[in-house]
Amino acid sequence: MEVEKVLHMNKGVGHTSYAMSSLFQRTVTIQAGPVIEESTREVYITLRPECFMMADMGCSSGPNSLLLVSKIIDVIDEASRSLNRQCPQFGVFLNDLPGNDFNVLFNLIPNFNKELQEAKGSSFQPCFVSGNPGSFYERVFPDKFLHFVHSSYSIHFLSQVPRGLVNENGEALNKGNIYIAKTSPPEIHKAYYAQFIKDFMLFLELRSSEMVSSGAMVLVLLGSFNSDDPDSIYELLGSTLHDMVLKGVIEQEKLDKFDMPFYSPTVDEIRELVEEEGSFALNKLESFTIDWSVDIRYM
Ligand SMILES: C[S@@+](CC[C@H](N)C(=O)[O-])C[C@H]1O[C@@H](n2cnc3c(N)ncnc32)[C@H](O)[C@@H]1O
Repeated sequence: MEVEKVLHMNKGVGHTSYAMSSLFQRTVTIQAGPVIEESTREVYITLRPECFMMADMGCSSGPNSLLLVSKIIDVIDEASRSLNRQCPQFGVFLNDLPGNDFNVLFNLIPNFNKELQEAKGSSFQPCFVSGNPGSFYERVFPDKFLHFVHSSYSIHFLSQVPRGLVNENGEALNKGNIYIAKTSPPEIHKAYYAQFIKDFMLFLELRSSEMVSSGAMVLVLLGSFNSDDPDSIYELLGSTLHDMVLKGVIEQEKLDKFDMPFYSPTVDEIRELVEEEGSFALNKLESFTIDWSVDIRYM
């Protein structure tokens, strides 16, 4: 199964759609807000481009991406005023896999630009938003194109389910689980981590070609405290699916062969890989847990 061809969040705007049920991811972005603000302000003040080019990798189909963009525009508008300069134009590039429901996002854009114009006055130029379908494990943009890259809650998705989750006879090694679980043999963590190393290093290399020098990137992803932590949500989901096997709702073999295509790294793993890959200087690396009492009106 090619993950990049089948993975997508729930389409549309119905009550089970990603657009209507991504409050958790919105909270993640809000929590990372101060880092994003500081980083975009610094890039703008250093480079002072006439058109600030930013990309959101794995934007999905909900409003979260545009909330982030409006926050960045506010920060740069304020910074340009303090430098007595005209606010730059903005090129906003929204990337996700081709199966993503970009139409949900596109439908929000006219109103988004109208609200910006009303808030910032008639001299504010429209923000040029476009969708860029493609895997972020491939080149998405031309050389030295972007000043700022953001990705939230997306790059823990792997380009493929790791090889090594089955033995040489094609038998599943992580039977009854769908991710690293307490009952998983040690090869399972090794296989997941090996795939993450490959994908994450590639992501860094590709983005470094697409970004201008002195640009910045903020990546927020699902993490673990310990390297081979079983991920409790997916352990629970795995055991629920196992119950469904026992009830005959799904076939045992299908569950045995199903594994989630993601990996949640530790802070140390990320540090090591960024340093080893070498394209980026690591200015800040933080972990946080989600506090559900965060005020979502912040953005
Ligand atoms: C949980 S959503 C997060 C969306 C959004 N950033 C937010 O915070 O609401 C993860 C997104 O990553 C996208 N994604 C996963 N793998 C990808 C890849 N290789 N290239 C581009 N997008 C990818 C998925 O399609 C999905 O829309």
